[in-house]
Amino acid sequence: MLYLDPSHRVRHRNIGNIDCKTKAVRVTKKLFIKTYGCQMNVYDSDRMTDVLAPLGYTPTTTAEGADMVILNTCHIREKASEKVFSELGRLRMMKDRARDQQGRDVTIAVAGCVAQAEGEEITRRAPWVDIVVGPQTYHRLPELVSQIDPAARHSVIDTDFPEEVKFDRIPGEHAPRGPTAFLSVQEGCDKFCTFCVVPYTRGAEFSRPVDGVMVEARRLVANGTRELTLLGQNVNAYHGEATDGSSWSLARLILAIAEIDGLDRIRYTTSHPLDMEDDLIAAHRDVPSLMPYLHLPVQAGSDRILAAMNRRHTHDVYLRILDRLRDARSDIAFSGDFIVGFPGETDRDFADTLSLVGRVGYASAYSFKYSPRPGTPAAASQEQVPEDAKADRLEALQQLINAQQLAFNKQTEGRTLDVLVERKGRRDGQMAGRSPYMQAVNLAGNEAMIGSIVPCTITDARQNSVIGAVA
Ligand code: SAH
Ligand code: SF4
Ligand code: F3S
Repeated sequence: MLYLDPSHRVRHRNIGNIDCKTKAVRVTKKLFIKTYGCQMNVYDSDRMTDVLAPLGYTPTTTAEGADMVILNTCHIREKASEKVFSELGRLRMMKDRARDQQGRDVTIAVAGCVAQAEGEEITRRAPWVDIVVGPQTYHRLPELVSQIDPAARHSVIDTDFPEEVKFDRIPGEHAPRGPTAFLSVQEGCDKFCTFCVVPYTRGAEFSRPVDGVMVEARRLVANGTRELTLLGQNVNAYHGEATDGSSWSLARLILAIAEIDGLDRIRYTTSHPLDMEDDLIAAHRDVPSLMPYLHLPVQAGSDRILAAMNRRHTHDVYLRILDRLRDARSDIAFSGDFIVGFPGETDRDFADTLSLVGRVGYASAYSFKYSPRPGTPAAASQEQVPEDAKADRLEALQQLINAQQLAFNKQTEGRTLDVLVERKGRRDGQMAGRSPYMQAVNLAGNEAMIGSIVPCTITDARQNSVIGAVA
């Protein structure tokens, strides 16, 4: 393979901006990243931006005109992965246009979980893709970029699960990300729920050492972050090594992070019920900055289906965990994930899901039709549920969840809640933020309020957002 120096490729491109301060001609290249899937992908996209910055790439908000487009993909359901191929079709036309009309190369990369699961398939179906890179190897992007050969119509693929840890190789300095930030502390999954691709796409469970997490957390707060969300596919399975060799639980990490001056809010997601340890439940009582909102997926209400999913707990165990959390923090609100139409699910099993939802009373929840994923045990089951039954169940469940969400928002009417103002709202003179319970709050205000926490009286509640007035 011919290895090209990236600066050589750059010479054929438009010459970028002139940096007036230094009077030097600096080539800036535009990078567009489209992110699908979960918050971990959002975090990874930001890190890819940081990794590519030393090569002169600066982020842009559209694919059109970009020098590199990265699709950071999600494999969780069929629809999510298929989107990638239709997007790649559009990008091919864009790449051809740029080459034919402007003599400009556009680098196309596919990252994330589809890249990991279907790397070979991508290069077969979309040979115009230059780079395929998995979630654990994107720190190698600069090297991969240098290996592209525009003349050879094949991709550079890197979907290793490498020995080295990407967190040790990505720049410590991030661009400031605003008042809220994600911080990945744990990756991968060893749970192997029978419907799920994550253990295959993200690999084995891994916890980042405490020191690296603390350094990153402090830096984010120093750059203006007031709310930090700790991320992991199973974040509450966190067991990071501390400098003295001991192993810290998520609760211990939260206690340490809560000490950082200037940090007002801590959240974590996503958790598995089985890893909801006593110390973590106690942290909800003891740490005021740990927000009273928890996303704790259960997937189904029927014990038979929970067993077939390999969730390894019953609906009752789940409900008891929620009770203990409520004992620790009486105002805690819950969110969850549900799958309807898992293989073998009967009407009676589904009724158990509705009844569990009825008992919990969620502040919000996500529900999905079961999507058979290649290579997962449930996909091979002979008891697949017909599509129309899945659709009916999804509708019934979503109606219930929507009603609960509205009821939750309604009971905050008249109350005064702290709102972290995050950005401008859709209308003029309107700002948008979040309550402690993750409600989207719209309020009258100005941009100077961004990053501050203001007490707001909730005046009007809708299903997806509430209106607040500064109290
Ligand atoms: N680690 C988290 C979930 C990660 S995936 C947990 O254990 O709960 C996010 C959500 O996608 C899951 O909670 C599940 O509800 C949904 N999901 C995963 N695989 C799916 C599939 N094959 N079909 C439909 N929904 C799925
Ligand atoms: Fe998937 Fe289950 Fe792991 Fe969650 S715990 S990521 S649903 S295998
Ligand atoms: Fe999707 Fe991968 Fe996240 S499959 S949900 S992007 S871990």
